[in-house]
Amino acid sequence: YGDYNQKIDYVFKIVLIGDSAVGKSQLLSRFARNEFNLDSKATIGVEFQTKTLILDNKTVKAQIWDTAGQERYRAVTSAYYRGAVGAMLVYDLTKRQSFDHMSRWLEELRGHADKNIVIMLIANKCDLGSLRAVPVEDAQEFAERENLFFMETSALQSTNVETAFMTILTEIY
Ligand code: GTP
Ligand code: MG
Repeated sequence: YGDYNQKIDYVFKIVLIGDSAVGKSQLLSRFARNEFNLDSKATIGVEFQTKTLILDNKTVKAQIWDTAGQERYRAVTSAYYRGAVGAMLVYDLTKRQSFDHMSRWLEELRGHADKNIVIMLIANKCDLGSLRAVPVEDAQEFAERENLFFMETSALQSTNVETAFMTILTEIY
């Protein structure tokens, strides 16, 4: 057993973007390692993790890139988006501002990424429903207008995390 003798049919690069503290890094660690950390530190620069899975009898390696939401910690933008075939645009459903910034993140993404990139809008922290600041209808309307997939997730409770990544990967494939 081991990755070293596994034949990889496809490598798909997926990028995570969105404001600081919306939960990008925790969504990634939940998906890649099934781990979650409540005192996650802000990301500095760029990190990535991979997860290899089987899709339709093919071995697919998802290479998921995660960068800082904070401008001062962000790495070179064009390199980050280069080669990406999927993107998750993440906001925190308890922070209206993080949703209002989605159009800016989308603009940056569309300015740098391939035009066929598969994009999913993610409303994270759905475990905090009582603190909700973004009605699901607002997000659905935005997603429809911009032609994005949409899902509500909780990295903490593991809700829809696997489904969201698998939906993107299936669409790319
Ligand atoms: P930057 O790296 O600064 O861009 O932030 P980030 O988007 O990577 O956020 P991060 O994953 O570090 O999470 C920020 C905070 O939100 C941490 O305290 C996490 O534990 C918490 N968090 C992340 N996902 C969830 C979630 O689904 N529910 C709840 N309740 N908290 C979450
Ligand atoms: Mg982070």
